[in-house]
Amino acid sequence: MRRPFIAGNWKMNLSREEAVALTQGIVEQLGTTDIEVAVAPPSVYLDAVGQVTKGSGVGLSAQNMYHEANGAFTGEISASMLLDLGCKYVILGHSERRHILGETDEEVNRKVLAALAAGLVPIVCVGETLEQREADKTQSVVQQQCDGSLAGLTNEQMSGVVVAYEPVWAIGTGKVATPEQAEEVHADLRRLLETRYNPEVAAAVRIQYGGSVKPDNAGELLGQPNIDGALVGGASMKVDSFLGIIAAAK
Ligand code: PGA
Repeated sequence: MRRPFIAGNWKMNLSREEAVALTQGIVEQLGTTDIEVAVAPPSVYLDAVGQVTKGSGVGLSAQNMYHEANGAFTGEISASMLLDLGCKYVILGHSERRHILGETDEEVNRKVLAALAAGLVPIVCVGETLEQREADKTQSVVQQQCDGSLAGLTNEQMSGVVVAYEPVWAIGTGKVATPEQAEEVHADLRRLLETRYNPEVAAAVRIQYGGSVKPDNAGELLGQPNIDGALVGGASMKVDSFLGIIAAAK
């Protein structure tokens, strides 16, 4: 059985005070749950948020990292620095990094390998644009992103990776994929993992859905056989809506 995993990505939002208060609200009201939960604050607030999540049922995630261990890379942050701050996870290859910051599959791949080598759990994002979906290229685009971003991983390494399917047209737009649309891609991704790795790896890897997930659409999405959790943007920045999505995963 794959343990459901709900992660909140706060992107470049919130003040330090708001981030800490939001974390306190989530930690205090979460209660005991079987669901794996994590929050990804802006990197400058990881330390402050990590003080609140420490010892709680909420894990700490970064939104990005650099693949080198250390050195002259102005502005970048390494995996070991994230571990230092108490991070367990790192989101890699988010569509905003791919499309706005120009990150390639090769770069994502270097980061995934470095994160795994350091002991972080990578949450690797893939997803098609509206144009690609309308041109019937969804399957080939996500396959290519998976093959590129996940190249060179051992079966054991791959089993510890979380994949997030996030159709670009559904992110921050309020246009959520239907449960059927999402499940179709998730099932394709699992079949791909089976051919690239093996049936055990494919059965073990959690595949989150992301893109306008809200408490009122989460239940149906998370009820699909191959949807194992959610990567939540906007709705993760309010205690009630984030907890509502976690409740829907039960
Ligand atoms: P959204 O963002 O929930 O605001 O659509 C999802 C994401 O980018 O992970």
